[in-house]
Amino acid sequence: MYRSFIPILLFLFSCKSDISNHIILSSPDQNIQVDLTLEDGLPQYSIGVDGQSMLEPSSLGFRLRQQRDLVGPFLLINSEIKVIKETWQPVWGQEKSIQSHSNQVKLELQEKHSPQRLLNLYFRVFNDGVAFRYEIPEQPGLDSIFIIEELSEFNLAVDGKSWWIPGTHAFDTYEQLHRVSRFSEIDSANTPLTYVTDNDYFISIHEANLTDYAGMTLKRSKNDSLKFCSNLVPWPDGDKVKTAAPMLSPWRTICIGRSATDLLESRMILNLNEPNQLSDVSWITPLKYIGIWWGMHINKYTWVQGERHGATTENVKAYIDFAAENNIGGVLAEGWNKGWEDWGKLGALRLTEPYDDFDMDEVVNYAKEKHISLIGHHETTANVTAYENQLEVAYDYYAGLGISSVKTGYVGAIKPAGQFHYGQWMVEHFRRVVKLAARHHISIDVHEPVKGTGIERTWPNMMTREGARGQEWNAWSEGNPPDHTTILPFTRLLAGPMDYTPGIFDLHFKRYKQDNRVHSTLAKQLALMVVLYSPLQMAADLPENYENQPAFQFIRDLEVDWDESLYLEAEIGEYVSIARRYGSEWFIGAITNEDAREVELPMHKMIVEDRIAECYVDDASTNWDTNPYPIWIGSYLVSQSDTLKAWLAPGGGMAVRLRPLDKDEQLERVDLAPISKLQLDQSSND
Ligand code: NOJ
Ligand code: CA
Repeated sequence: MYRSFIPILLFLFSCKSDISNHIILSSPDQNIQVDLTLEDGLPQYSIGVDGQSMLEPSSLGFRLRQQRDLVGPFLLINSEIKVIKETWQPVWGQEKSIQSHSNQVKLELQEKHSPQRLLNLYFRVFNDGVAFRYEIPEQPGLDSIFIIEELSEFNLAVDGKSWWIPGTHAFDTYEQLHRVSRFSEIDSANTPLTYVTDNDYFISIHEANLTDYAGMTLKRSKNDSLKFCSNLVPWPDGDKVKTAAPMLSPWRTICIGRSATDLLESRMILNLNEPNQLSDVSWITPLKYIGIWWGMHINKYTWVQGERHGATTENVKAYIDFAAENNIGGVLAEGWNKGWEDWGKLGALRLTEPYDDFDMDEVVNYAKEKHISLIGHHETTANVTAYENQLEVAYDYYAGLGISSVKTGYVGAIKPAGQFHYGQWMVEHFRRVVKLAARHHISIDVHEPVKGTGIERTWPNMMTREGARGQEWNAWSEGNPPDHTTILPFTRLLAGPMDYTPGIFDLHFKRYKQDNRVHSTLAKQLALMVVLYSPLQMAADLPENYENQPAFQFIRDLEVDWDESLYLEAEIGEYVSIARRYGSEWFIGAITNEDAREVELPMHKMIVEDRIAECYVDDASTNWDTNPYPIWIGSYLVSQSDTLKAWLAPGGGMAVRLRPLDKDEQLERVDLAPISKLQLDQSSND
């Protein structure tokens, strides 16, 4: 498969007094090359792909408080090369097995002049991108280090089209619609920052293994429109990272593909994280779930106890009944605890005190009887100090009840004031919670989180998170336009699973609200459950909106933990089709933006033996804006040589389940439905 397993590595040592060191490190397939130089002792890297420049020379280093900047001039005192090749099995994920193959060089640098501090740089080149990180090794005089800026540059060679959300003025929310612009027009951006170059490469800049450090945003250089520099999220006093030697930074990652689907296939971020730290993972369970949730967002229920209280004993038990009858594993209950009436007030969280109309023991016992996992909820109102004070008792409480997943939330500005959701202090808080939850055998779903950087490899109880504009925005704002979900897979979802909460069937919820709606067809809501990967996947609507709905069968049947995923076709912001396998079944989701389009699914990519294709697809009259509900549901017998062709409505989608034939089952090979534009083309085999 690979042309060579040996990196091309050249060391050219000049004999002049101004030593110039030059190293070229290649990807295993040799298509990507990183060029590392010490120009006048200043470290720089550049990247070439297929012989073309992708990143021009970019500088590295740190600006420090109370110390001279750590930027050089350096001498190269040692270098080590390593080939890293492994196959590993995630506890849950988009596939059962992941391959990691890269060439790594470690450069050990020492300042030429006093105080002759040491700095190590690691570069890794994969077939799908490049990563680098800093190490400040243990040494005298660096017992405390205050980083006031990391000086990593990303000096892109070619302009292009970019999908991004602002960085500098948005240290405190990722919940935004994407801007679409020329890459060179971005001032500041959060990561993953994705763009397609004018010479057709698909690039996404992000980070991996964000641990004991501040989150990274990017800001454009004043003098060069294609040059970006890391801009770390600050502490209240302006420091970016408070640390000490030895220190290891997160990896800075530049994922490089030749198509949009290459970005979806990349596992570079996960591969740059440490292996699983948990020996017993039997309590970590991927689940579909429903919850007392959407009802509050559309004003049917309240979180606060009162006439319309959602999380009552009776109501939660009814949700448990519905879940048990419909092959849904979990039920979330928000607004179960006292304190919501004092939102925002100091000490408001009362995370061990159920409201009087919510009998925790009764609900827990009922859920156990029905084999349903109750999903707990901790809304912190971003009062992190108050949450920290309750952490042990709150997790003891849930663990004592046998609850094994908790959704957390951090709405609002962080208390203590001046801290940001994505600064080092919060990064450390989020990790503390994940570790504490692991000790209690509890998995976590974080809303208003710090971005994902692949730590779920190391801590697989960190199952999913929000961290982007989710479905909730359709309930109370102008909403998410149809292209939003065709961008998310190539931006936010590259950082890891997302709790978007798809699956709304009553797209207008007129009974409760007049001015809001979901900008999607019904079929697209099904497709999103496959496209937007989450090992805790919510079917977000009210149970009564699923009753007697034939389309709900897809959600009943759906799996959420996958043996294999195939990224069939995609254009960022336009359309995306993904197929995921569980055992002998495939589930396929295809979605489009506001434009109608035809999709073709060649069956040979998925199956060898005949299968029944259960299709849920927009019908000829469907349109997200004017007529979002019509959905054509039908089954075909398909074989390897067939291509399933379907028409997706504006803002629409298709969901398909491919399953083996039941014993004695007979189905017509072709059964064209006049109400649908779905066709089965048996002649093509591409
Ligand atoms: C915002 C979260 O994203 C949402 O899911 C939750 O219902 C509310 N906060 C209340 O906790
Ligand atoms: Ca949110």
